[in-house]
Amino acid sequence: MKESKSDALVFFGATGDLAHKKIFPALQAMVKRGNLDVPVIGVARAGWTLEQFRAHARDSLEQHGGVDETAFAKLCELLQYVNGDYDDTATFESLRVALGNAQRPAHYLAIPPALFGPVVEKLATSGCGKGARVIVEKPFGTDLASARALNQILFTRFDERSIFRIDHYLGKRPVHNMLFSRFTNALVESFLSREHVESVQITMAEDFGVQGRGAFYDQTGTIRDVIQNHLFQVLANLAMEPPARIDSESIRDEKVKVLKAIEPIKAAELVRGQFRGYLDERGVARDSQVETFAALRLHVNSWRWQGVPFFIRAGKSLPVTCTELTVRLRRLPKVFPGCDPVPNYLRFRVSPEVEAAFGLTVMDPDDRMIGQQAEMMLSRRPAAGEMDAYERVLTDAMAGDQTLFAREDYIEEAWRIVDPVLKSGTPVHVYRPGSWGPLEATAVMPPGGWVNPVARVANSA
Ligand code: BG6
Repeated sequence: MKESKSDALVFFGATGDLAHKKIFPALQAMVKRGNLDVPVIGVARAGWTLEQFRAHARDSLEQHGGVDETAFAKLCELLQYVNGDYDDTATFESLRVALGNAQRPAHYLAIPPALFGPVVEKLATSGCGKGARVIVEKPFGTDLASARALNQILFTRFDERSIFRIDHYLGKRPVHNMLFSRFTNALVESFLSREHVESVQITMAEDFGVQGRGAFYDQTGTIRDVIQNHLFQVLANLAMEPPARIDSESIRDEKVKVLKAIEPIKAAELVRGQFRGYLDERGVARDSQVETFAALRLHVNSWRWQGVPFFIRAGKSLPVTCTELTVRLRRLPKVFPGCDPVPNYLRFRVSPEVEAAFGLTVMDPDDRMIGQQAEMMLSRRPAAGEMDAYERVLTDAMAGDQTLFAREDYIEEAWRIVDPVLKSGTPVHVYRPGSWGPLEATAVMPPGGWVNPVARVANSA
């Protein structure tokens, strides 16, 4: 069934950090591409006028991607600003007026989850929620119980088809193209099973710290911030079965099945780290035990993957910024006396650029039959004007396409996997900023070791 398009976009938290960094650039891009021509109403409690709000939007664009004067002028015509507290009936009365005749507004809650309850309630009682979609930001809860509670709050007034839980990683072109690459290439897909794969590892490295988000980060940590959501999505894309049909539910059904096959992570299969200097960050508790690095092993007990260990590693203040996964194939038996076979691998880089590579053994230059390692690589940098993740997810939510959003059961399964270990109080080991994490991370080590992504200076298009 074709979903109707939203005829207004309301975003709560309009003067916040996320709006400044990501939402205004996405809105300008949507206008430029012809995907946004409905009222865009910012709600916040900053006490601003519409002119101040527009100036803020311009400032955001100047700092994040640049102003396109034509698109920005159109965006300014669409922008409205509603001021007020999120639990004040008057705010929602003003919003109702601003919405005019809109029948299918999309309400984007770019606000802390603690405010979801009052906003959802007021949307409903004011009539602003009638026929509406609601878009919610990550993190969706802090554990299984809180995620369930948030779902219950949303379900009091909205049904699952109207709820869009953002994981912007899914909006990244290479991430959502993983399925296309897998299911259109025998050369990739035929090897992705326990028969051929020895292990899988995923690394998300960032070469910066918490960037002034200390207060948020110290309530969150690496597992909640990027593993339970972004990296589980990457894992699910790699491990899932082909969907029976290309529609959002069929695709999301397969992803949920992957998570269902994963046992909760054990404390012995997790190493947590914290970069030296984290405790001096503003907003961070002086004795914080929150991790800025985590390395873990998990097992996908499906027919396809049973017995193949999956490793995930993520951290701040590492040597490079890059997300990459490596599938290491089983070693072949030895045939040539001078050549101990090295396992082949498939390597996919999903951020910042796209790479797909095969690691192979080739004949050594002197034909001595000892072999040498080579990599065959396809690489592509994002093209100018390509959709950024936020533009993609907001465009899809406005169109009612659920594919790139996390369903209730997916979110709860993801929390189930990390919940016990989050509460088990494993030690946090200090590491040097710019290193690959604490030495203790070797306790959770893929066969053949961790593959450290190498930053590219230049890429071929
Ligand atoms: C966010 C996390 O969800 O994703 C950040 O909160 C992280 O800590 C970011 O840096 C990474 O996303 P991207 O798109 O910048 O690679």
